[in-house]
Amino acid sequence: MSDVTKINGRPLKPSTLMMGHGYDPVLSEGSLKQPLFLTSTFAFPSAAEGKRHFEGITGKRPGGADGLVYSRFNAPNQEILEDRLSIWDGAEDALSFSSGMSAICVLLLTYASQGDVIVHSGPLYAATEGFVAKWLSKFGVSYIDFPAGATREEIDAVLAQGKAKATEQGGKVCMVYLESPGNPTNALVDVQAVRAAVDAAGLECPIAIDNTFLGPLWQRPLEHGADIVVYSLTKYVGGHSDLVAGSIAGAKKWMDPVRMLRNTMGGICDPNTAWMLCRSLETVELRMQRAGENAEKVCAFLAQHPKVEGLGYLGMIKDARQQDIYDRHCLGAGSTFSLLLKGGEAECFRFLDSLKIAKLAVSLGGTETLASHPASMTHLSVPDERKAALGIGDNLIRISIGIEDADDLIADFEQALEQV
Ligand SMILES: Cc1ncc(COP(=O)(O)O)c(C=O)c1O
Repeated sequence: MSDVTKINGRPLKPSTLMMGHGYDPVLSEGSLKQPLFLTSTFAFPSAAEGKRHFEGITGKRPGGADGLVYSRFNAPNQEILEDRLSIWDGAEDALSFSSGMSAICVLLLTYASQGDVIVHSGPLYAATEGFVAKWLSKFGVSYIDFPAGATREEIDAVLAQGKAKATEQGGKVCMVYLESPGNPTNALVDVQAVRAAVDAAGLECPIAIDNTFLGPLWQRPLEHGADIVVYSLTKYVGGHSDLVAGSIAGAKKWMDPVRMLRNTMGGICDPNTAWMLCRSLETVELRMQRAGENAEKVCAFLAQHPKVEGLGYLGMIKDARQQDIYDRHCLGAGSTFSLLLKGGEAECFRFLDSLKIAKLAVSLGGTETLASHPASMTHLSVPDERKAALGIGDNLIRISIGIEDADDLIADFEQALEQV
């Protein structure tokens, strides 16, 4: 039976539940794996049940639909995926989307109204920062940000500023939005301090956090006071660089309003991608563990190399405050880090052009190792002063380690460093 979640009182681990949770083979001709449900709509057993479903979908009756209606709202492959995603973060509910950015945009649009202020950590993924600054501003929503490593006192001060600004604009602080670690510097946010500051300020808005870099294995933000966890599933969860998807998870009270907007706008993950993600979730723990072990070995090699100036790797933090945040929030150092070479763009380009195993591509969290140059690629549009403030210099390369043989990767980086 698929929905056994405990044996003799022992709660089953996510890695066990990924094989069958949320799916009953008896309902699908005994098919061990979930079939792909390619349908746009679902037949109602009776007109009265059709009416009841629509009362749930439209919010006329609380609790949502209790059956499937139409594939823009939900469908079997997506429901199974959402059930399994909730398990990893210990969330009550999850919603899947066609990309990480559609998850983030629908989430922000749900909670922001005219005059409101979004308080966010910096840096955020560039498209997230762009959505807040360029698009939400068109609707009278403004933002205020604080650096990832901010202390409790600094967070208190920014929240007070945010509240004052919101009052001036006739709105409220509608969300505290975090990304930790930040991309590409790996700076961590003190989620526990943000929770305490939000409570002390008497704010009732949700705290959302983009957990793409460390989740779901190495960081569990809902346990540290966040309300909503956000993912680009394109990265570690999908894990094979062959799909684009996103999700959010949290308590049902935070998910329900977002579901209503997703029902209206669309943006739900398609069935084929949901199916592939369920397959990926069966191995996510294995893949992330191996990638994490590989990264540790590769970073040990890189750290002592004479052409390397430094590493932004969570397993080798130099700053006491960042180390303290890491110790309280993280269960592993991940496999995405920045490599600082001695030199600048020319040295970085020679290194990148010489790689034989690692591919020169943006993105992260796949089975294969990727390397890129944020200053001239993902962060090219970021103004120079902001790049400097965020520590995104011309000598910074971002690397995402995959699950290849660690010694082969070290050999590749060694020969590429010789070309620098
Ligand atoms: C931290 C982070 N959040 C969100 C996104 C956006 O996700 P997607 O590309 O799936 O829309 C990315 C993409 O690189 C990311 O790195």
